Amino acid sequence: MIPLLGKTAAQKVYVQLQSTIASLKQQSIQPCLDVILVGNDPASAVYVKNKALACSKLNITSHIHQLPQEATKNEILTLIRNLNNDPKVHGILCQLPLPNKANEVEVIQTIAWKKDVDCFHPSNLGKLLSETPIFMPCTPFGIIQILRQNKIDLAGKNVVVLGRGHTVGRPLSCILSGKGYDSTVTVCHSRTKNIKTITSTADILISAIGRPESIGEDYIKEDAVVIDVGINRIADSVKKGGYRLVGDIKQKEVESKVAAMTPVPGGVGPMTIAILMYNTINAALLQNNMPLIKLV
Ligand code: GUN
Repeated sequence: MIPLLGKTAAQKVYVQLQSTIASLKQQSIQPCLDVILVGNDPASAVYVKNKALACSKLNITSHIHQLPQEATKNEILTLIRNLNNDPKVHGILCQLPLPNKANEVEVIQTIAWKKDVDCFHPSNLGKLLSETPIFMPCTPFGIIQILRQNKIDLAGKNVVVLGRGHTVGRPLSCILSGKGYDSTVTVCHSRTKNIKTITSTADILISAIGRPESIGEDYIKEDAVVIDVGINRIADSVKKGGYRLVGDIKQKEVESKVAAMTPVPGGVGPMTIAILMYNTINAALLQNNMPLIKLV
């Protein structure tokens, strides 16, 4: 089994961003990402900290706006509008889930599409669907980069995506069935019947369901490539913090059956952040009327 390492893949993305960051700085443009974190979800706090850390390693400015659990929708929207109007801010991201999930749609739609480095705004999703994207969604494109860098071809492959969430499953399944990716995609979700029969046809199985270690070897075809998007916390008294991270896949059980697999942690997670950095640089270019960069 070949481990598909996210850190190695992320490093290759960062190398490609460096010369553009340097050239922006020479033109007195300091790339800047502003992150909004509402409430005290411990996992979200870790993700946001890691995003800020990646910014500082790449010399991208970042600001974290921490709002209390009880922040109102209007307080969040006012902050977003201020950031929309600040020419120094190139990228805006509001970490999801929000304490009040009902606010998420309006929050996403209030972020200016040119600053929407998550690629969650309907304008960016519309461009993606019509195959004229500006930004690419972070986790889906991170997965595509991992596959590309490891020379895993997508064209004509049977790809099964587990999960239809707005962050991963839905955008990823749309992209992979599109021109240039050319996979035959099946999406499974909570109402899908005979899931094992479907997943057993997958040349590439991508799980984004967020259910800890729920996919065993009986779901997987021999020599399949497995992408484990799940980052689930499970109680572990031996670990400091009292938990450990596991994926959706029973990794120990399937490792002798699969050709390649992303580990958890250290697989898809670092690549989500790498694409966020890529989008932030492209947002800075876009807002300064300069051509965007493409990853190789
Ligand atoms: N929550 C889980 N993943 C993500 C992501 O990629 N972006 C945002 N904004 N929130 C998330």
